[in-house]
Amino acid sequence: MVSLSFSNISKSYTKGKKALNRVSFSYDGNGILALIGRNGAGKTTLIRILATELMPDSGTASIDGIDLIKDPDRVRGDMSIVPQEARTIGWLTPAQNITTYLLYRGLSYKEASLRALKAMEEVGISEYKDTVTRKLSGGTKRKTLVAMILASESRLIFLDEPTTGLDPISREELWNVLNKLKKDRLIVLTTHYLEEAERLADRICVIEDGKLMAHGTMDELRMKIRYQYSIRLPANSYRPRARGRLVRGTDGGMQILTDEQEAFRVSKELIKKGIRFSSNPVSLEDIFYFIVKKSIDRDDKEGNYDEW
Ligand SMILES: Nc1ncnc2c1ncn2[C@@H]1O[C@H](COP(=O)(O)OP(=O)(O)O)[C@@H](O)[C@H]1O
Ligand SMILES: [Mg+2]
Repeated sequence: MVSLSFSNISKSYTKGKKALNRVSFSYDGNGILALIGRNGAGKTTLIRILATELMPDSGTASIDGIDLIKDPDRVRGDMSIVPQEARTIGWLTPAQNITTYLLYRGLSYKEASLRALKAMEEVGISEYKDTVTRKLSGGTKRKTLVAMILASESRLIFLDEPTTGLDPISREELWNVLNKLKKDRLIVLTTHYLEEAERLADRICVIEDGKLMAHGTMDELRMKIRYQYSIRLPANSYRPRARGRLVRGTDGGMQILTDEQEAFRVSKELIKKGIRFSSNPVSLEDIFYFIVKKSIDRDDKEGNYDEW
């Protein structure tokens, strides 16, 4: 179990513009903590500060009570990071990439080789262990990087956009690996794929313009916004009267965002009328739009039901 805590972290790269502005959060336990936000929001800056790669201008941060800004050497042995721009060494095999990394971390060759084999098995890349990584798919290369830090046996792992650029199948495979690994460690990952955070994360931090806008589990985030339910109707469908917000898709389909009680009432009406629809709790994408873009540009002003 890991206890990660940071308070009032600020960082500017250039005068005036804050990449991070007094960000505070704490988390106890194993699992996956997702930092979500658009490009430039400050995710990488935060992850690099927590991984002791970058000094903040102000603020405090600790892991299991140890100050990671003042005493980075005491926590580094317990953590590993795969940076956003990380690549495997192309002319080395996965086994060699992992072993080399472990040798750098101070392990013996024997121990490093054993751990490399075990880690490759855990992430499911054993069959490629002797193929140079430049000949492997993007997904297998990314899994090699995950196996590398897994083999370090760190309790705290930072992954900066681990699935960006991967095809949907490789992404799904990596999700399965991370889901397995989170059981006995804390994985902090950044992503701008909201579906990924929704599928994987035990806790989500929404970052926008250097600020922590909201945090919590999916259910907690849902409760922070005005509407908790989404009803979808196909294009040219009957439009029920409802209290909430109407969003029109580019295909003409309608989405009504509303509260639980109203969703129930509208659903009953639609069933009675025999109209095809779906009703679900709002997705992280809906929540993100509410939190980050309070007035949504995809909102249909004319059809806005707010005044009902
Ligand atoms: N090395 C750097 N020098 C100057 N500005 C930077 C540097 N790294 C990031 N920034 C700026 O800081 C802000 C946050 O960036 P970053 O943390 O990389 O965001 P994210 O990872 O969410 O895309 C952005 O405005 C970005 O342009
Ligand atoms: Mg980034």
